[in-house]
Amino acid sequence: MRLRKNAKTTLIRSLPLFAGCSGREISQVAAIADEVTFRPGRVLATEGADGREFVVIVDGRATVEQDGNVIATLGAGDFFGEMALLTGRPRVASVVATGPVDALVIEERAFRRLLDEAPGIRDQVERALAERARSAA
Ligand code: CMP
Repeated sequence: MRLRKNAKTTLIRSLPLFAGCSGREISQVAAIADEVTFRPGRVLATEGADGREFVVIVDGRATVEQDGNVIATLGAGDFFGEMALLTGRPRVASVVATGPVDALVIEERAFRRLLDEAPGIRDQVERALAERARSAA
């Protein structure tokens, strides 16, 4: 059990989004993030739908699609789902696993609390949101 927890903590530390986190912040992420494996082809976010999770890809690749067109590809260390959670608007794109995807999934309320308590994470997430909003416009 202890080993499992350490493995999860080590995994979280290895992701760029969490690289600058304090030990306390890493423990907080470990407590709220579920490790999930998705099958190839699985739709991880649906354009136009409500969003309730924030997802960090640990391994594997996914495409970001708008109106059926691929607008970006995401891989290990990339995250998605922040736009719906931070703007309160529907998902701007679909995200589809192109192969098996290992991910950390954080639900909305825990994600909001994390951003309030970890400014370093908030900065990175907000920067990505601004860039993506501009490219989606
Ligand atoms: P959200 O709108 O919640 O759900 C779809 C997600 O796709 C969106 O959040 C972003 O995380 C992600 N996304 C949208 N546009 C881009 C883009 N241009 N590049 C990378 N990811 C994107």
